[in-house]
Amino acid sequence: MQIGILTSGGDSPGMNAAVRTVAAAGIGRGHKVLGIRSGYAGLLEGDVLELDLAAVSGISGFGGTILGSARSSIFPTPAGQQQALARLGKLGLDALVVIGGNGSLTGAHALAQAKTCQVVGLPASIDNDIGHCGLAIGVDTAVNTIVEACDRISDTARAHRRAFIVEVMGRHCGFLAMRAGIASEADAILYSENNPSEEDLVQRLREVLQRCFSNWHKKRALIIKAEGIQVSTQLLTRRLQEYLDTDAPGVDIRETILGHVVRGGRPSAMDRVIAQRLAFGALLALEKGAHDIMLSWDVETDEGQRTQDPHVRIFPLAEVLAETGRLLDGSSVVVQGRLAMLSQVENLLIL
Ligand code: F6P
Repeated sequence: MQIGILTSGGDSPGMNAAVRTVAAAGIGRGHKVLGIRSGYAGLLEGDVLELDLAAVSGISGFGGTILGSARSSIFPTPAGQQQALARLGKLGLDALVVIGGNGSLTGAHALAQAKTCQVVGLPASIDNDIGHCGLAIGVDTAVNTIVEACDRISDTARAHRRAFIVEVMGRHCGFLAMRAGIASEADAILYSENNPSEEDLVQRLREVLQRCFSNWHKKRALIIKAEGIQVSTQLLTRRLQEYLDTDAPGVDIRETILGHVVRGGRPSAMDRVIAQRLAFGALLALEKGAHDIMLSWDVETDEGQRTQDPHVRIFPLAEVLAETGRLLDGSSVVVQGRLAMLSQVENLLIL
């Protein structure tokens, strides 16, 4: 088979391990593998290179993506889709592996409708907002990066007896804030899934800070805030400082927005393993004729088609995208489960 591979959308740590496995295992199994540079934008232009073992050797430990990535504005248009299909034909691809998040998988599903070449998606997004996927490639590293940053911030916060708000990426999904918040011993975790208003947030956080500094005499208070929250971090900091001045005189609050720091860096061993096993599963699935599907890691329900790997399942891309919609509008049982778990521990966080 002639297999094309691209990474698209926001890069995530572990993408390179997936590229390496598709290329190295693909070559080993007798296929030819073409790397497409800069995501769908590169596909439109035919910007490809044949991957040999030397090109992918040692890349699993690199952050970002050696193929480059992009968020193409032309590709999603009808003209862009036609151009991409024509390019797939010109390149003589039998199969295309798309590694990316929601937008990238939506693009993969659209291309798959023409049935001119097999299309398989691999979930990669630090946000963990992809339907029917327990952990996407990159999430584990991002959580570890946040936890390390929060440990550092906690050191300086304790030295000065301060409160901190740390804002983390995640676009419309609070998963990173939730998981990293628990691991960092945060005193409060803010996420947009329960739609808090500015006043709710401020009053709740005022109480948290009162309990931290007046009742429990803590040395630091840590608030992890998901970027999807509509109230700005600066505004929250300002309003909470006003309350602290009367509730706990002498205690200051500071903010840190981690931003793209959370997306870069060397992938954790776990992310490399997830990426490699998903990529190998993709190869085996392609050889069996799979089309318009995504490989998933550690699905939380009993759904999906099982594979020889107990952690890896297969889902039609249409089902993945439908469940992604439910994750983002909050109606998914997975989101409900996360919210129920968080509401149970919420009052225990500051202990
Ligand atoms: O989807 C991944 C992500 O890192 C989000 O967490 C964030 O909102 C967005 O991408 C940032 O995108 P960009 O790098 O294009 O600013």
